[in-house]
Amino acid sequence: MSKIHVTTTINGEPIEYLCDATHTLLDVLRDQLGLTGSKEGCGSGDCGACSVIVDGRLVCACLMLGVEAEGKSVETIEGMATGDQLHPLQKKFVEIAALQCGICTPGVLVASKALLDRNPDPTETEIRYWLAGNLCRCTGYDKIVRAVMEVAAEMRK
Ligand code: FES
Ligand code: FES
Repeated sequence: MSKIHVTTTINGEPIEYLCDATHTLLDVLRDQLGLTGSKEGCGSGDCGACSVIVDGRLVCACLMLGVEAEGKSVETIEGMATGDQLHPLQKKFVEIAALQCGICTPGVLVASKALLDRNPDPTETEIRYWLAGNLCRCTGYDKIVRAVMEVAAEMRK
């Protein structure tokens, strides 16, 4: 099958790649570009482990084709820290142990960042609804929600 040339931006860097028309953005990120922070839990849009931000919108990378990234700006978990400076959400998740096995964590962090980017003062209910698409089988969610609330409060100061 002939490959399609894609020009896009990932974590602020201009990127070009060739991909099959049937490959998902998650395939491209993980298998072609070596960005393995985005996880594949279900491959069907149900778990949120593959969450990325595309042109400011939270999407499941397993539900988007790699060719659809043409001309878009993609943010992945690898772009969340600035050099060796973790994003406040990453710091807080470590500080209060809002993760256990960690499989869901990249997606939860990206989704939480997408929320705070658009709503710096979410209620607990809004956080729980926003993160409803990010499944976690370990934490029980309470520490995740607490981390997002505490970071939101700190970032508003
Ligand atoms: S791997 Fe994409 S939503 Fe589960
Ligand atoms: S920390 Fe294990 S699935 Fe969330």
